[in-house]
Amino acid sequence: MSAISIQSVSKRFPNGFEALKGVSAEIRSGSFTVILGPSGAGKSTLLRLMNGLETPTTGAVKIGGELVNGQKLRGIRARVAMVFQQFNLVERLSVVTNVLTGRLAHRSWVGSVFYLFRKEDMGIAQEALSRVALTDKAWSRADKLSGGQQQRVGIARALAQQPEVILADEPVASLDPVSSEEIMALLREICERDGITVVVNLHQVELARRFADRIIGMNSGKIVFDGSPEQMTPSALRTIYQREGIENDNSLDMALAYA
Ligand SMILES: Nc1ncnc2c1ncn2[C@@H]1O[C@H](COP(=O)(O)OP(=O)(O)OP(=O)(O)O)[C@@H](O)[C@H]1O
Ligand SMILES: [Mg+2]
Repeated sequence: MSAISIQSVSKRFPNGFEALKGVSAEIRSGSFTVILGPSGAGKSTLLRLMNGLETPTTGAVKIGGELVNGQKLRGIRARVAMVFQQFNLVERLSVVTNVLTGRLAHRSWVGSVFYLFRKEDMGIAQEALSRVALTDKAWSRADKLSGGQQQRVGIARALAQQPEVILADEPVASLDPVSSEEIMALLREICERDGITVVVNLHQVELARRFADRIIGMNSGKIVFDGSPEQMTPSALRTIYQREGIENDNSLDMALAYA
């Protein structure tokens, strides 16, 4: 069974804009998928549909065969973890407390409100911190860490959730090249070692080539490429990044010359 099943999904926002136009994809369990595409292509919208932050206008999204919808959202949220471009940490809290919040999806409403964690949760959080090599920073305030370290906390929080799927929306967009490399390698390692299905939105073609099993290219709300890194030829890249109504696009040529 697919880890994620996206079935003829369209998304029209209340202002009438159609961000996704009949998107279908089956994402294999334990695979590493990168979604590429120009700004506004619908990458974030697609990711947000996979954890129920948005609902499709038509079509369906399933995680492990189960429909992502309003009623069972809590169950889905526990199974799907998110990693964000801006890390989304609670800055004044310690690193380990931030990681512990990954356990909240598994706890009762009352427990969540009062941040009541079990002893077992602390063990899971410490283990997650050791996976991202931040054990020594457990009691530092989150905002005292560098961007790369903060993103590793974001990944530890996702791991602590013990999810089936990790969705990362431009996880390296705010990081330098070396930290970006570390974060991608960490996500790849988690995919391989823990068998967690990983889907990452990226703007870096080179990172997509190096780390992905599969690349999905989106443009204007549609999937316009779906294949292995080897299959992503210069002409496929043109298809992904082409801009509507621009015939001889010098910027596109320049951008893709070294991609
Ligand atoms: N709540 C909303 N209401 C109306 N339009 C929206 C809403 N959210 C997103 N959009 C529009 O849908 C389109 C797709 O947005 P989305 O954020 O999915 O693109 P993206 O591929 O993630 O772009 P980027 O690479 O810049 O992050 C954009 O044109 C955006 O303006
Ligand atoms: Mg986006």
